[in-house]
Amino acid sequence: MLQFEDAVPQGAALGLQPVMADTDRLSQSLAATQPMPSAAATPAPQLSDTAKMRRVNIADKRIINGQTDVNQLVPFKYKWAWEKYLSACANHWMPQEIQMARDIELWKNPNGLTEDERRLVKRNLGFFVTADSLAANNIVLGTYRHITAPECRQYLLRQAFEEAIHTHAYQYIVESLGLNEGEVFNAYHEIASIRAKDEFLIPFIDTLTNPAFKTGTPENDQKLLKSLIVFACLMEGLFFYVGFTQILALGRQNKMTGAAEQYQYILRDESMHCNFGIDLIDTVKMENPHLWTSEFRDEIRELFKQGVELEYRYAEDTMPRGVLGLNATMFKEYLRYIANRRAQQIGLDPLFEGATNPFPWMAEMIDLKKEKNFFETRVTEYQTGGALSWD
Ligand SMILES: [Fe+2]
Ligand SMILES: [Fe+2]
Repeated sequence: MLQFEDAVPQGAALGLQPVMADTDRLSQSLAATQPMPSAAATPAPQLSDTAKMRRVNIADKRIINGQTDVNQLVPFKYKWAWEKYLSACANHWMPQEIQMARDIELWKNPNGLTEDERRLVKRNLGFFVTADSLAANNIVLGTYRHITAPECRQYLLRQAFEEAIHTHAYQYIVESLGLNEGEVFNAYHEIASIRAKDEFLIPFIDTLTNPAFKTGTPENDQKLLKSLIVFACLMEGLFFYVGFTQILALGRQNKMTGAAEQYQYILRDESMHCNFGIDLIDTVKMENPHLWTSEFRDEIRELFKQGVELEYRYAEDTMPRGVLGLNATMFKEYLRYIANRRAQQIGLDPLFEGATNPFPWMAEMIDLKKEKNFFETRVTEYQTGGALSWD
């Protein structure tokens, strides 16, 4: 939800201001704070004009191409970002806290799961074990340096750590079940339906991680916006959903309940990543309306259609026959439903008229508070484990 205390000034040359690299800004800032030899003898000096100008004014803050000091978190302008940072920290969890014993027993029992269910689990992990590394690299090496609002950067730092926890969780499941690590971790090279999804994403990640890429022209700002949309709406907001639904469907049938619990926490995190990304996109749009041209919107719609098609092919590949009461056709409807929702969240018309949600129970999965008290007991354990001793 967007909350603005200050309206964006009309007619400001948003996005066209010269970009100052962070390091330049920092060195200028530090140089300006060095005391002059004569200053030590002068009591209570008045703030110089330079010092006054250096103080951050909310009205000057921008999500991209901002000129304010990125080292000063406050005054807050984008409170939605700070609130998401606080919520994410309050939801902290670690993979080892979840019991995997029943999953291990079921996996090792030759009659525990069908061949189709085993294929589904392996292909599912085959996508996720590398997907969250791609996500983390995209944030740390790409998105972060182009975002000039420190409260958004603060959330991105938390998000990057959560991506590490997710990769850890998938690795923990692979290790617990004793799966072939070479096979699972190389699935993104070796399984066509997984490779196709990653190949779709990689050019957009490459744009942001290219050291030569800089925002500050309408063309490059559109490239950044496009990458933000692909990452939030299609990667985190669409490409994860076949996989999440599959494992959570297993859990609903009392199978692989440890893995399902891990996925439930991941789903909650990802749902916040997606919502943060959408707020970020909508704010960049609001601050830079000249980027949202009809050609640009057409391009985004086309990417959404491609994303739905790729994820549908992945659904078919992971479920060549019906399994767990699920089949690829149900996912086609689900993906269309999600794509419509993502499109509307960033201000586009729905792409697939009349698509409905065949898995209404997935919405409940995102809201863990209803059924779990997991987080109420855990905070104390962390405090005990990490307590400092002053003796
Ligand atoms: Fe993740
Ligand atoms: Fe994520």
